[in-house]
Formats: sequence, structure tokens, C-alpha cells
Amino acid sequence: MTSKAAQQKDATSSKLDKSLQVSYQSGFGNHFATEAEKDALPKGQNSPQRVPYDLYAEQLSGSSFFAARHENLRSWLYRIRPSVLHGPFQKICHPYLLGRPFQNVASPNQLRWNPLPIPEKPADFLDGLVTIAGNGDVSSVRGCAVHLYAANKNMEGRYFYNADGEMLIVPEQGALTISTECGIIQAKPGEIAVIPVGMKINIALDAGQARGYICENYGPHFRLPNLGPIGANGLANPRDFLYPVASYEEKLGDFELISKFQGNLWKATIDHSPLDVVAWHGNYAPYKYDLALFQVVNSVSFDHNDPSIFTVLTSPSELAGTANVDFAIFPPRWNVAEHTFRPPYYHRNVMSEYMGLIVGSYEAKQEGFVPGGGSLHNRMSAHGPDSATFEKAATAALSPKKMADTLAFMFESSLVFQTTEFALCGGLTQSDYLDCWQGLKGQFKKP
Ligand SMILES: [Fe+2]
Repeated sequence: MTSKAAQQKDATSSKLDKSLQVSYQSGFGNHFATEAEKDALPKGQNSPQRVPYDLYAEQLSGSSFFAARHENLRSWLYRIRPSVLHGPFQKICHPYLLGRPFQNVASPNQLRWNPLPIPEKPADFLDGLVTIAGNGDVSSVRGCAVHLYAANKNMEGRYFYNADGEMLIVPEQGALTISTECGIIQAKPGEIAVIPVGMKINIALDAGQARGYICENYGPHFRLPNLGPIGANGLANPRDFLYPVASYEEKLGDFELISKFQGNLWKATIDHSPLDVVAWHGNYAPYKYDLALFQVVNSVSFDHNDPSIFTVLTSPSELAGTANVDFAIFPPRWNVAEHTFRPPYYHRNVMSEYMGLIVGSYEAKQEGFVPGGGSLHNRMSAHGPDSATFEKAATAALSPKKMADTLAFMFESSLVFQTTEFALCGGLTQSDYLDCWQGLKGQFKKP
């Protein structure tokens, strides 16, 4: 920090600190225009010779310039200082945060994990990140990674951006206040937040501690799935996605700017808050979504539908209908199918499935799969209801039943997940997972 900056540190104000009355604007992928100070947005052009209030104009591109119009993502940020004002980056070590490819061999074994404990030592959101699995490759911008976080302190004096992938954050315990260049988002358990590639953020913990999951998407940005015969409405409706309004920090100090770049963390000094965007417009911005607003479509006659009907967001691959990664949820709903085995059917899938649980229990497992835990069923690895669930469901009375105490999710990818060393040897693995199916008997009553 310069001496001048040090002198100014206490004298500067932070609009962010003064008020956390968070408001939003809505509509998935809309082109927004928002300003924290009256008339801060240039009118009629993006880059005037002098920007109102003498701010700097800076474009943040989330797609190639030449991408088709419906794929084109960019926002214009009007800020106190341009993003290039920081010291040189130096690579730093993080013991558990990794980028693909990993060193381990991918496994066909069905895997299940206990929850990640809240750390005993102080750890902020970045300190508390642990990579569990991943696929594809950060350098070829294909695939995704599954991370967990468990934190007990705010990110103090440091800011973070991820150059490798957008981050779909799924809180399981504790709400997050995510301050971004575009404004503030608060996300609590039952909601998700999506942070675009390159967006600078700072995360504070509303309850003093927090835990959850992250899908880091290296591939094409998340979008709403096509609805096909469902029609124009249903599943996650576009107007329920909330984007921040402009809000800025004008703050000087000895800060750090952390970048995740090609799987590694890099640190640079910065003498001001980089969350200094006074106004912005565009369609490249962070957003949140309340999973309780997902309109569930399901069978009202017989049989168990494929889980694609539960897709909230999808990152497509080059092959139509085959996702780089899908985010699907299994929320509270009515179960009414007649003459049907109602839990998920036994199956083997060419897609690979990582599952987590936010609330309650999951219909295919009586025990062992708990909130904060996870499971992985890789390409063609068999899975389905455990023995206890099968026995119960095969003989249950088929009256309409409300599945209330549940909220599970899945990151499903066409690419095979490789697990990390921590995932296999970090003490969370349930070595007896296969036992949950061993009570299933051979069943064939010969005619
Ligand atoms: Fe499955």
C-alpha cells in the first residue's frame, strides 16, 4: 500500500459496509442497466471520451466477440479504477483446491462421502475449498470440477476471481453474502448463486460459518434447458433468476487479489477494493435462484420419469442433448404414480453423476446419504435404491404421498469424473457404501 493510500484508508467510505439491504433485478440472461449513482451510466454509447463522474469504462467479455448473438455475453463496467491496477501475480499453494487433470486414476467404484467438517482453525471461503472430483480439462475449457467448501470466517482484505470456470454455488449450511463487481447477492441454503468466469468477488458468512458445494463449470456457460413438449412454462422460470443492482466499494488498503488460473491460485497485491463498479450494463453478471421456485413436472399416471425433468441449468456439449454438465434438483413434490415402483429405478448411465443433499433425506437411500455428504456414480457404474428402500417401496401402499423433507441435487456430466487424493484418502469416504445393496436377494419366482 502506498503511504498516500494508508492515509486515506480510514477516511474512505464503503457503501457496501453501510447497508446490506440487498435488492435485485430479475430475468435470466436479460440485458440489464443499473447505476449506484444517478446518471453514472453513459447514455447512447458504451465508451465515451469522458465517462460520467470521470469513471473508467471497461468491458468484461464472457464469450468470444464473434459468438452468435444468442450466445454473446458481455457487460460494460464503469469503475473508479481499471482492473489492470494491481501488482504482479505470484503462484501460491492451496492444499486441496485442484484443477483438471488430476494425478489419480478414475474409478468405476460407487463412492459416497460423509460431510466435510467445519474447520477448527480460522478458514475463509477460499481456505475452506476442497476439490472432490473433476473431468475435462481447464486448458481446453471443457468439463467441470466438484468442490466442497466449509468456512468459519469472512474473506477479509482479499478478493477472488476464477479464470477457469463459472462457479455454481450450492449452500448447505449458512447464508453467504457475495459482494461482486456487479453488486451484492445473498444466497442461503435452498438457493444457488452462479458467479461468471472472471467476476471478482468477496464472500462473507452471515451465520459465522458456512458449508456447501460448488460446480465449477469449465465449459459453455450455464443456461436454461429447452423445454420441448413441456411447453413455454415450467421447471425453472426465467423471471425467478435474480441479478444484483450496481453497488460499489470505495476502499483503500493492503488487500490481496487472488486468481484461480489453470488450476492454481495466484496472488497479487492491490491497494484498493476492486469492487468499485459504480454502474454497469449488459448480460454478463452473477445471479441467484431460489430452488423452491422450481416448478416440478412429473408422472401423474405411472412409472418413474428420467431425472432430466429436474434440470435447473445446463451447460451443453458439442453433441446436442448431451451435457457438459447439468444441474438437476430433487425437491419436495407429490408422488402419485399408480402400480409403480416409485423410487428411482436401478440403472447404469453413460453420463456420470455426482449427487449431494441440502435438506432431509433422499428417496433412494434410507441412511448414509446425509446433508453435506455426497456420492459419485461414474459412467456405467450400477446404482439404485438400497436394500431397505427396495423392500419398503415394493410393498408400500400407493396412495398419494407428499415428499416434504428433502432437497437433493445432481451434477451430471457426459465426461467421466476423476476423484482427487482427498476424495479417496481424506477420511470422508464411506468404505462400506457397497453394503447398502448387499441385502438385495436374487428374485425369480419360477413359473
Ligand atoms: Fe443415477
